[in-house]
Amino acid sequence: MFSKSIMKSLNYKQLSFLKNLWSKKKVEHGKFSIVVQPGKVSPQKKVPDHISKPSYYATGHPTEFIDHPEIKNLEQIQKMRNSCKLAANILKKVGSYVKVGVTTDDVDNFTHDLIVSSGAYPSPLNYKNFPKSVCTSVNNVACHGIPDDRKLEDGDIINVDITVLYNGYHGDCSKTFLVGNVDDLGKELVKATETCLEEAISICKPGVKFCKIGERIEHKAKDLGFTVVPAFIGHGIGHYFHGPPDICHFTNDYPGEMRAGMTFTIEPVLSTGGEEIVILDDGWTAVTLDFSRTAQFEHTVLITDTGVEIMTI
Ligand code: MF3
Ligand code: CO
Ligand code: CO
Repeated sequence: MFSKSIMKSLNYKQLSFLKNLWSKKKVEHGKFSIVVQPGKVSPQKKVPDHISKPSYYATGHPTEFIDHPEIKNLEQIQKMRNSCKLAANILKKVGSYVKVGVTTDDVDNFTHDLIVSSGAYPSPLNYKNFPKSVCTSVNNVACHGIPDDRKLEDGDIINVDITVLYNGYHGDCSKTFLVGNVDDLGKELVKATETCLEEAISICKPGVKFCKIGERIEHKAKDLGFTVVPAFIGHGIGHYFHGPPDICHFTNDYPGEMRAGMTFTIEPVLSTGGEEIVILDDGWTAVTLDFSRTAQFEHTVLITDTGVEIMTI
């Protein structure tokens, strides 16, 4: 999820200018191809009548609303388990589909069809007018990349973020995949990001403050030589796609603590460079200001009586 507190918008010309500056500075961010301009986006898909739709399907505006972190009962938890399991299974299949030469639009088609044929709705589709069914973020795209006609290249890293709405509940997860031969820095970044997510999950249990997650992630990221991109935060999830609590991935003083029955996501984005991002003209694609690469991993978790359950596994 995007936190509005850090928001800048640059157009293609301004970005090309920065890209020039950046290459002259010869900052060492590894060997990879920089994404500057979004490609061609194919027409928006329809979802068949028999699939139940979220509030925003026709309007783009979600109306599901909650004002405090929800404690789910057993029936709700079971529904969350089913949605999360579905999202995780689909992410696994998409992971083996990702390869050199496949476009991110192909990834979107593949994912959309899998979700719909499972009887679920692809949550991103028309959520706040997002035009596609999945987010695909390549190299220096930090988050919310829109699938387009760009072919995956040898050495790319790509985050695929899948959310499904199944039986009235959303399940949300993402991984960053290596495409072909990725350089060492890219591989280290991807591994470090997954480690940060795992460490954060390991401290979750009833009574722990939400803000402890960010502290843990920031320290670990620094230890491993990477930077947390603060604009992207985890979120409560349920019959709503995004709700309280906010889960910051950096040192913070967000109030409140974990209780059994809460479900939320943890989804850190780490970069090899700075922490700043800009949003492209499409209103979604977030790229790093210094064109450094980023990776992201996400799980939906449940706080249990004694600890934590990773739901998207
Ligand atoms: N799945 C993303 C998250 O983890 C949200 C994507 S919103 C969309 O919060 F509209 F871009 F799909
Ligand atoms: Co997600
Ligand atoms: Co999320």
